[in-house]
Order: sequence, then structure tokens, then C-alpha cells
Amino acid sequence: MKEVKLIIFRYDPVKDDRPHYETYSIPRRDGLTVLDALNYIKENIDSSISFRQGCRSAICGSCAVRIDKRGCLACKTMIGEDTQEITVDPLNHYKVIRDLVVDLEPFYERMKQVQPYLVRNNTVAMTGKEMLIKPEDLAEAKNLRDCILCGSCFSDCNTLDVDNTFCGPAALVKALRFISDPRDNNEGRLAQAVELGLYKCPVDQECEFACPKEINIRRGTIERLRYLAVQKELAPLPEHKKLINSVLDTGGIVPVKAKPATETFPEYIKEFDGEPQAEVLLFLGCIINRRKQNVAAAIINIFQKNRIAVHLPGKVTCCGSPFMRIGQRDSMRPFVEKNFSIFNDYAARGITNVVTSCSGCNSTFRHDFPKLAREFDIPMNFRIYDVGEYISKKIVLKVEGLKKTNIRAMYHYPCHIRASGLAEDIYIDLIQRIPGVELVKVPKSGYCCGGGGGVRAAFPELADRLAVRRIEIAKESGIDTLITNCPFCVLSFERVLGMKEEMGEKMGFMVIDFYEMFSEAYGSSPEQG
Ligand code: SF4
Ligand code: SF4
Ligand code: FES
Repeated sequence: MKEVKLIIFRYDPVKDDRPHYETYSIPRRDGLTVLDALNYIKENIDSSISFRQGCRSAICGSCAVRIDKRGCLACKTMIGEDTQEITVDPLNHYKVIRDLVVDLEPFYERMKQVQPYLVRNNTVAMTGKEMLIKPEDLAEAKNLRDCILCGSCFSDCNTLDVDNTFCGPAALVKALRFISDPRDNNEGRLAQAVELGLYKCPVDQECEFACPKEINIRRGTIERLRYLAVQKELAPLPEHKKLINSVLDTGGIVPVKAKPATETFPEYIKEFDGEPQAEVLLFLGCIINRRKQNVAAAIINIFQKNRIAVHLPGKVTCCGSPFMRIGQRDSMRPFVEKNFSIFNDYAARGITNVVTSCSGCNSTFRHDFPKLAREFDIPMNFRIYDVGEYISKKIVLKVEGLKKTNIRAMYHYPCHIRASGLAEDIYIDLIQRIPGVELVKVPKSGYCCGGGGGVRAAFPELADRLAVRRIEIAKESGIDTLITNCPFCVLSFERVLGMKEEMGEKMGFMVIDFYEMFSEAYGSSPEQG
């Protein structure tokens, strides 16, 4: 009979000095859930094991645990046919009462801070009539009402890892649930959400991936609350105002310090003989164009080595991502109009693939712009790709003759790449094409660099703590290189590595942009004009 191994966290504070893991092998059967497996162990192997359960149908939220380091419901998580072993831990950010049972009090405490109930203004005159509400008035709260208070999002929250004053995602879900309810008269709830850390979230979406009820936490809750905060003049925060002014003054999120790549390279780049296998419009984004010109050169080199002709329009503007992330949605029109008008002009000439090199731009173009373009009645006659996605899926990628790169590395999967719906495997597969790279698996993807959501501007110390924690996780794995493909991540990591070195701490590894590494493996970059 086929078996599956469960490695389970055990800790009884009365008897044990410290927690440990115990391993149990159980027979596998079709439709086996992790909760079934825990029950099998309790009934047949070890009756001392403690865990919670109730409905067994993803309704009560009691069975939430971490499975392979991610918060989820044990009753909803199937043990797949090919699964050899799984690790089950208690939820993170709570005190362990025993084994997999935790004290959820901190979760409920944060929830109470947003007054998770309908507040009625009793001074409103009673009419003696029923108060009728149309279904559309409650539409926004529908998804939010699905929360079953399981605590998985709180467990997996990156900000809570480094700042326990943050109220956590579920409290924000609850706040919006009542803010969007027309019966609620609590005028101070939104200000309370800002006070409790609405802007401390780098929108990495880890909570949303943990949520068993698929609640739209990042865009639907956090960014929506930020939008409402701007409408009510509770935001932008002073530091975000500076950021906005800088984008408005300079056309980009970072000021020009060196010649931008769009001025260094010609508008049309084709440095190979014969017909191209494809032509693309390359959108570099502010950071790569203005600060990371070497990454721009690397991407162009990869395209040239693969016979892809590149169009590099100089007149594009910032993608507007910083505005969207902090709730300034109403300021987006010029960014959408200018960029989409350029993309549509190229599309009319047959260049219909727009490839972005920055994951933040990609996520914004893919998820925010189409909705905004519809609102502004702007057509979208092109498709958006990320560079890694494009070279892995849309062309015949040249991989023979790549130079050996002897490194022991870990891949940092940027949250914006994940938010674009692009799988981590796309980038892992590409990295593994380079001979000599030994890739060490990250204990769990979804760790945050702290660079997103306006956190770096408003709460730089919090952003640094997140970046340091990510680097320490990498360091503990004994690697010499952290590879990523988001310029925000690279800047965040470079900043804290520099800080550590200044303090005399030898880190012994480097952070590199994936495209630079891939380009190096191909050989020399194209000439810059
Ligand atoms: S996006 Fe990340 S930091 Fe923000 S609430 Fe969710 S898990 Fe926490
Ligand atoms: S938002 Fe989702 S993950 Fe968080 S407590 Fe509610 S149901 Fe659980
Ligand atoms: S037992 Fe109720 S949600 Fe799993």
C-alpha cells in the first residue's frame, strides 16, 4: 500500500523544553485531506497529538494550520497522488498552546480595533419603516463577508513578521466590509484603518494566497481602502506626497542621475543579419531606464542574441504604479493615455507585443490599465508580456553555448511577478538553463523585499527590516548569490547589503538581476550609441 509521510510540529509547553517534529507514515487513499490524515494519526498511531477541527468543510475556520510553511485549512487541502511528504506546523504569529493548537487572541484583538460590527447612528430619525437595501448596495461587501476568521492571512503576513503593531489583513477586510455597508454610520473607521497600518503593507499578496475563501485582499481591500482614504483626504501620507510630486516633476519614480537607456540606445535595435524571429516594443520602466541601465543593456542583448528586433520608444512615461498602490487612482489618466496611445501607434504598425522589464510595470499594465482604459474609452490593441515570460513562451530561445556560471544561488520570486499571474517556475527553468548554477530552493516563496506598496517611502525602517529578513533567510541557506528580476527588489537588497557592510558585517554573497546573469551567459552586450 502506498504511504505518505507527515512531519508534524509537536510541542507541549507543560512537558517539553522545546518544540520538535515527529514523522508519521499513513496509508494514502483517494480524496485524502490533511485533516483526514491528522485524524488517522490520532485514531490509529498517536492519540496525544492536538489539533482543532469543526465543520470539515471549509466553513468554520478552526482547522487552519501551516502546510509546507503556508497558512491554509487542513480540511480543504488534499494530499496529492504524487505527494511523498508534507510538513504541518501551527499558524505563525500566535502562541502555541499545544502542537497545532494556537492562541488566536492577537488575531481577535486586532479585529476588535476596527469595530467589526455595524455601528448605527441612533440620532438618525426612526421613520417607523423598514430600511430597504438593494443587493447592489451590498455588492462590494459580498466577497469580504466570506471571511471565516481562520487566521491564515495573519499567520502568513510579511509585515507582521517584522512589525507587530500592524493590524493585519483580516482586520482590514473587516474594516472595508463595514465601510462599504450603507447601514454603517461609523465615520471614524477609515481613519482608524490608516492609523492601524493601512500603509504598512507592501501589497505582496501573501495573505491573499493563504486565504481559503479567495478574498481579494490586495487590490480589492488594501488598495480600495487606500483609494477611499485619498477620497476622504486621510491620505496620501506626507512622504507619498513627495513621491507623487517627484513623479509629476520628473516623469518617473526616480530622478534622472545618468543618461537614461532610452537616450543611450536607438529607437530601433536590430544588430543581427537576416530576418528577426519577432519584433517587440520594450518598456523599461523608470528604475531600469534611469538607474539600472546595465539591466536594460542586458535585456537588449538577450533579445539580439535571439534575433528579436527591439523598438524602444523614448516618449513613454511612468506606468503610474506608485499612484495606484497608494490610492491615487484618480491621477492615473495621463499615464494610461500617454503610454497606451504610444503602444497603440506601434500596434497599428504591426508591433503588437509590449514587453516590460520591470515586474511592477507589468502588474500595473496587466491588471490596472485594462480597467482604466475601458473607463477612459482607450483601446488596447496590443498584448503585455514580461521579458522572462516572453523569452520562455513566445520565442525559440537559444540556449546552446551558454557560458558556465559557477554559483550557488537562490531565486527571489518578486511579488509583482506573482501578481501578474506568472509562475515562479518560468524563472527557475530559465535560471537552470545556465550551466553551473546550483539552485537552492527557498524554504517558502512569497518572502517580501519591502520595496512595494509605498512602504519604502513612508516606512523606510520597516522596508529595511523586511529586506534584511529576506537576506538572512537566503544567507542561512548557504548560498553565494540571490537572483531576482524586479528592480525594486534589487534596490532594496542592495541598500540593506550596503548598510550591513558599512556596519562591518560580511555578508559573503551578492544580489544579481536575472537578466544580467542571462546576458552574461550569452556573451558581450550590444554596442551603446
Ligand atoms: S499583502 Fe503582505 S504585508 Fe500586506 S497584509 Fe497581505 S501578507 Fe501582510
Ligand atoms: S481573510 Fe481569508 S485568510 Fe484571513 S481570516 Fe478571513 S478567511 Fe481566513
Ligand atoms: S474544519 Fe471547519 S474549516 Fe476546516
